[in-house]
This record gives sequence, structure tokens and C-alpha cells, in this order.
Amino acid sequence: MLTTQFFGSIYTNPLMNASGVNCFTTYELDQLADSKAGAFVTKSATLQARKGNPKPRYYDVPLGSINSMGLPNNGFDYYLDYALNYQKQHTTALFLSISGMSTEENITMLHKIVESEFNGITELNLSCPNVPGKPQIGYDFPLTEKILQEVFTFFDKPLGVKLPPYFDFAHFDEMARILNQFPLVYVNSINSVGNGLYIDSNSESVVIKPKNGFGGIGGEYVKPTALANVRAFYTRLKPEIKLIGTGGIRTGQDVFEHLLCGATMVQIGTELHKEGPEIFERIEKELKEIMRQKNYQTIDEFRGKLKDDLNETFEL
Ligand code: FUM
Repeated sequence: MLTTQFFGSIYTNPLMNASGVNCFTTYELDQLADSKAGAFVTKSATLQARKGNPKPRYYDVPLGSINSMGLPNNGFDYYLDYALNYQKQHTTALFLSISGMSTEENITMLHKIVESEFNGITELNLSCPNVPGKPQIGYDFPLTEKILQEVFTFFDKPLGVKLPPYFDFAHFDEMARILNQFPLVYVNSINSVGNGLYIDSNSESVVIKPKNGFGGIGGEYVKPTALANVRAFYTRLKPEIKLIGTGGIRTGQDVFEHLLCGATMVQIGTELHKEGPEIFERIEKELKEIMRQKNYQTIDEFRGKLKDDLNETFEL
């Protein structure tokens, strides 16, 4: 009922973790492999291992989360080795996420992937908002275009990109124009809404240490922005480029909404952090129940079919 075709493979369902959550160590990755997730993705890697930003750097709040992790990770080779071992013994899809500290570093890691036996999908993260002094690449349109031009001179394995949220039609249009030039497998929208500020009025303080409390916002706060980005790109990208919807997923209904807006897969971050990998089983059940009530046998019957052209009325 939930089976999903993605880049030529059939996944048991469209559910994944969002990179950064429950995917830092081989232990956590194994937990995802053993969960009900249809596929999973590694923590975005840099060439060398990084400790990341000072703690506290992740904070759960009632309507979501704020984080400024700063790309802590065990280094590219750690995740590539895991992926190579994993793919020898398993069939559940594993995506490898990279987020270099520079364009050169991204290119170096992508060359290593091409030269390796890795046969899965790579996610190029262009949207980490949390490294002090490093703006999000996805907000620099000419740089994004230049990087993708360079990447596709040599990268001949499946590649997707993870983008920050956009808030203006001019930006949806321009980013879609750039992305449509390339043989991308998918676009993942959205990363956290960068540089929000959550404060505790009792202590009159910020809640995370890095960047004087500024951090990426996830969870319920961001679902309308995530749905808007999924929908905007679904209606602008060539059909070969699929959408992964990320942002604000807590229930089967949230997944249903992402799929209705056009997502093929969905990723869960904040709520996975709160509930742990058992969340996939719950959400799978809830989505099945919604589909049963609506009499849908397959996701393809409703994917992308959001009714977005209401009749005009005279009410406010
Ligand atoms: O700070 C972090 O490690 C977050 C990365 C991301 O949002 O891509």
C-alpha cells in the first residue's frame, strides 16, 4: 500500500530520517536499518571528522526544536565505509550525505564516491545554517549553479541536493531554473529555517550556546514553509527530479500533506529526535489509516494532486 518507487528501486514506504538525526554513529545507523523506515541517510559528512559547535547546541521546544550543531560528524571515510559494508548485506536504501566546508572539499568527496563501489544515492547538502562564518550555499544562486556545473562534469552516480527554505516566488523560480539544467535525482526541501532565536523568559536567556542562541528551527513551526517549498518545486521542476519533503512531520497526516504537495519521499527530523526510531512504525500505521479512510490503495493516486485553484468567494 505504501510502496514507493524512487530512482528505479521499490521502497517499502516513503519514510526516512532527516540527515543529522539518529545517524551519527554506526550504532544509530544500524537502528535506522532495523526500523520501519523505507530508506535512511547518514549525517552530513565533512572530509575530516568535526566536533561541531559547543554544547548545549540542540534544544527541544514545545512546537519543535532549535539547533546549532555545527556539522559534528565522524568524517567522510567513516560513513563511506559504513555504506560500503552495509550495501553488501542489505537491500534497504542508504543515502550518503555530504556537506563540505568548501566547494573543493565537496568536489573531493564526490570524486571519492565516484571512485568507490558505493552504488546508492548521494545527498549534497547545500543548506547547513550553523557553521559560523559559512553562509548557506543554497542562498547564493550563482555559486549553487557553478558548483552543480562542476559536479556534473564528472559525477555519474545518482545525486540529490538538500536546500534551505525559500520565501519568495522569485527565488523559487530562479532556483528551479538552475536545478532544471542538471540530471538531479531529487531535491530535498527543506533544511531547518536558519537562524531563529528561541528564548526562555523565566531565565531571560537563550537556550543554545553557539551563535548567541541563534539556530535552525525545525518541527511544527516549519511545516507550512516546508509544504510551500515542496509544492513550489514540484510545480517548477522537470518531472525526472523528484521531491523529498522534510519539515514539520509528526504524524501520518503530515506525511499525507507532504505527499499531496508532490513529495515522493519524506524525511523526519525533530520528531524522530523526540521519539526515536519507533516513530516510523507509528507514522506508517497512521498514514495507512488515512489512506484507508480516503479509499486510496496507493500513494500514486494522490501524490501531487493538491487542489490549489479554489473558486472565488466574496468572504474575507
Ligand atoms: O549544524 C548542523 O550540523 C546542521 C546541519 C544541517 O542542518 O544541514
